[in-house]
Amino acid sequence: MCGIVGYVGQRPAVDVLVRGLRRLEYRGYDSAGVAYFRGAAIEIQKSEGKLENVETLLSKLPAISDARCGIGHTRWATHGKPTTQNAHPHRTGHVVLVHNGIIENYQEIKQDLVKRGHRPVSETDSELFGFLVLEKMDAGRSLAVAVSESFREVTGACSVVVMSEKEPGTVIGVRNGSPLVAAVDPKGGVILASDAQPLLEYTRDVVFLEHGDMVVGDSRGIRFLSLQTGEPIQRATSTLDWSPAALDKQGYDHYMLKEIHEQPAAMVDTLNGLLDRASAESFPLAGQPAVELLKNAKRITIVACGTAWHASLMGKYWLEKWGQIPVSVELASEYRYRDPVVDAGTLVIGVSQSGETADTLAVIQELRKKGIPTLAVTNTRGSTLSREAQATVFTNAGPEIGVAATKTFSVQMLTLLCFAAFLGKQRGKTAEMDQIFAQLIRIPHLLGDYLDEKGTLRKAVRETARKLLLLKGFFFIGRGYCFPLALEAALKLKEIAYVHAEGYAAGELKHGPIAMIDQDIAVIVLAPNDAWREKTFSNLEEVKARGAQVLGVGNPSDESLQRVSHFWIPLPETGLHESLLPFVVTPVIQLLSYEIAVLKGTDIDKPRNLAKSVTVE
Ligand code: AGP
Repeated sequence: MCGIVGYVGQRPAVDVLVRGLRRLEYRGYDSAGVAYFRGAAIEIQKSEGKLENVETLLSKLPAISDARCGIGHTRWATHGKPTTQNAHPHRTGHVVLVHNGIIENYQEIKQDLVKRGHRPVSETDSELFGFLVLEKMDAGRSLAVAVSESFREVTGACSVVVMSEKEPGTVIGVRNGSPLVAAVDPKGGVILASDAQPLLEYTRDVVFLEHGDMVVGDSRGIRFLSLQTGEPIQRATSTLDWSPAALDKQGYDHYMLKEIHEQPAAMVDTLNGLLDRASAESFPLAGQPAVELLKNAKRITIVACGTAWHASLMGKYWLEKWGQIPVSVELASEYRYRDPVVDAGTLVIGVSQSGETADTLAVIQELRKKGIPTLAVTNTRGSTLSREAQATVFTNAGPEIGVAATKTFSVQMLTLLCFAAFLGKQRGKTAEMDQIFAQLIRIPHLLGDYLDEKGTLRKAVRETARKLLLLKGFFFIGRGYCFPLALEAALKLKEIAYVHAEGYAAGELKHGPIAMIDQDIAVIVLAPNDAWREKTFSNLEEVKARGAQVLGVGNPSDESLQRVSHFWIPLPETGLHESLLPFVVTPVIQLLSYEIAVLKGTDIDKPRNLAKSVTVE
């Protein structure tokens, strides 16, 4: 989820870089930095923490307004802690670079570099790339050739922007997975960034680089080259038609779509709040007051409504698996009028985006009065729920404007997963939890790439939505982790597209609802490669035999699933532990509802009869 900006031109470069990084802050980060040419030498200013720290460093320097070429970065740590040393830009001799994404074979590269006498100073995978470029330039290659040859040695999706003191005034960017956008500055110059936002201040005409593109910016202007062959290539310019109002939506047609795309950043920011990123320990919950409540709980009851209830159902799977604690998940509107058996050994967690949902609030207020331990999970600071519960853990999704909850669903799941992992560590599952943690922090990167506007997901979903649109009903089915997702998918579709949709545990179909299946019904089968995939597959065959139009959502290499499905949306190839797959299935179900609603022309951000915050019972 790192942010990248690069500039060469007539404007004060440091100013362009800092303004650009500000526009990328929404992505979430924990350190920042800029590098710029002063004469033929490159200077770097970087710091852990917020961009202000870098601005303070810059404010103490003379004449940086003379700099006309530089690169900047906001980093969200994956390899190595969020320290100043690990912050970008990284210098390796005369080469300076910023990097977004993951170099998967970094350990092998590091070993080889060390054998060849190099001494990396940071813990990052990014710095290693600089050594590869340095070696090649020192062997006589140009910066562009050295960069493209270095890419042949790395695996993993990433983008880089690189400069060298041997070629002052040149900025080279490569997109090899993670997005990169380039534009010509009308005042003379070239600007690059990891998304279009920083460019819009200067121009609306931008080029979205394709995978495997290299862009060179220098005094001659902008050139695009193939990373593979080094040959010049043509890239079409897109004119972004963003009105001032749309800028609020950052160019997205609806807040809902924007918020779906903000999920990686929301996850980063939520993790930053939950984890002590400077600690080598995973899942310490950063001294949250929730810690004592979780440690002392003998059982957990989660109360919530709507989407928050679905996130809580997901939480139950993780809490029971890792935390080995009994969990019940309750609809707040039902629970509050029952006579539930609850004692001081039960931790009651209220999950609510708004923190104002009347039913959830009532349960927490009432039980707290009775001396039952209560914990709130909410996205809203100062909300009534956060004041009424004994302790609160905040999700950091930022404001969610669309009535349909999207990014808050992901961060609610994420928070409950962190609770489960924390308890897992308490119960001695350290190695397993560390493995989950290592994968978890990669998810925002993976999701960012999967959600990339120019990527295949949006296109596949849009085309499928068009084909399913006229069917008379939708069944989402899944097992295990995909059962709560099936419920959430059906809720989303009902809520914004006003069509009949049901979510079912796939094994339940034959206990009644299968009677409804015929050729006018779409069955959306959520079947990633997990422990339940085979069973779900059998359920797919049952509905297909009854004429349903089947949309398969599964692993890209799952040929048999693709073959039997009428329609097919592949998940990304992530190699993630099965328990983390809900985070990559989630955007598929959200986008599917969104695209169907677009085709139906509903008021997506403000669906009829609904309010964002349900403060009445
Ligand atoms: C979800 O798309 C809905 N808008 C709705 O179900 C919502 O999740 C529910 O009303 C609970 O809201 P809360 O998270 O603010 O408590």
